[in-house]
Amino acid sequence: MIGQGYVGLPLAMRAAAAGFDVIGFEVDGRKAHALNAGRSHVEDISDQQLEAALRSGRYRATTDTLDLAHFDVAVISVPTPMGEGAPDLSYIESAATTLAPHVREGSTVILESTTYPGTTEELVGPLLESGSGLRPGEDFHLGYSPERIDPGNTTWRLENTPKVVSGIDGGSLQAVRSFFDRIVDRTVPVSGTREAELTKLLENTFRHVNIALVNELAMYANDLGIDVWEAIDAASTKPFGFMRFTPGPGVGGHCLPIDPSYLSWQVQRSLGQTFRFVELANDVNEHMPDYVVRRLQNLLNDLGRSVKGSTVLIYGLAYKANTGDARETPSRPIIEQLQALGATVHVADPHVDDLQFPSGVTKVTGTFDDLARADVVAFLVDHAEFDLDAITSSDRAVLDCRRTLKGDQVQYL
Ligand SMILES: NC(=O)c1ccc[n+]([C@@H]2O[C@H](COP(=O)([O-])OP(=O)(O)OC[C@H]3O[C@@H](n4cnc5c(N)ncnc54)[C@H](O)[C@@H]3O)[C@@H](O)[C@H]2O)c1
Repeated sequence: MIGQGYVGLPLAMRAAAAGFDVIGFEVDGRKAHALNAGRSHVEDISDQQLEAALRSGRYRATTDTLDLAHFDVAVISVPTPMGEGAPDLSYIESAATTLAPHVREGSTVILESTTYPGTTEELVGPLLESGSGLRPGEDFHLGYSPERIDPGNTTWRLENTPKVVSGIDGGSLQAVRSFFDRIVDRTVPVSGTREAELTKLLENTFRHVNIALVNELAMYANDLGIDVWEAIDAASTKPFGFMRFTPGPGVGGHCLPIDPSYLSWQVQRSLGQTFRFVELANDVNEHMPDYVVRRLQNLLNDLGRSVKGSTVLIYGLAYKANTGDARETPSRPIIEQLQALGATVHVADPHVDDLQFPSGVTKVTGTFDDLARADVVAFLVDHAEFDLDAITSSDRAVLDCRRTLKGDQVQYL
């Protein structure tokens, strides 16, 4: 398993439990060291689970490339960020280059990182070929299988979520599928790696666009004095043809703010066209933090206060509930804008690591005393640990971006 992050570590644990001997290859030495000491940095994997895998003798983490020797199946789960307006595939390139000398006849290499269609065949295949002297499809198997892991989701886990599998030829598809058949309950074969790559981007673009739709609607409904949340609840009773999405302070995490742009970048580069839905959704979702700040400004205005000199208490730094993942979190631009306007910002988030708190903010827990010190409250993320009674029983004006709280002093996004 190349890369032991949110995606690679759960897969490594599952593969070890399924009876494979697993090497977790990780370039970050601190992560590898902590993993071997039984400390998991991924919330979905408990230390106990990790320790059990280590004790079984079927899992260990390493930074040593020599440990890649003699592998049968390699899965690449490394980051795919955007860099300067274009996909940054340097992590995939580096992983494939490192792996290539260890590819043997009959090996199987599977890319799992989210990326634009064509990456497996056009980038990973040639890198593996030049480093191994072997031909993909002829001498070794090569495929793509997108990850659908949803951190914090205890209902849909790795093993019971259907997994799309693909190969660059029939033999590769068969090899990829038979590996994942031992890992998950159900595999879904598609005819080629491009279709599998597009599947992942379609799923995330679908979500991104629909979130943008309800976000834009929420802003208009508020101006029109209509309760959008009630309309969404009512529409959700329709048993067909409607799917529930709710407004929020913006999208975050490693996927939604980035993946659709992989697709629009490719459409622009290959076809010279603008993928208008993606551009529009990016525009709406990227501006949600501005809207949240404006609503907080209005709340303070109603109290006869300016943002400058006020204290804003923020619940939630992570990008979604019950995770410590703060990558691309909309809380960050909200905090930065409030600070730029002269507010003092206090932030409560029991999941996010202290090192990730933005500079200049005070970390709090969200107690009665913290509420008493605040002029206005922004409820951005509904972590299970938050004391909702404390918030609603205080008399502070609240902007609830999750429709979780009740009370006369609560306004909704
Ligand atoms: N996090 C999610 O919910 C999620 C869901 C589906 C798909 N994905 C996709 O999966 C991929 C990985 O995402 P993630 O969230 O696991 O990222 P992550 O940052 O949590 O983990 C990636 C790991 O790979 C390591 N790494 C980087 N280059 C390496 C190399 N050359 N060799 C070995 N290790 C290397 C990093 O140090 C890091 O620990 C991305 O393409 C992402 O878009 C993520």
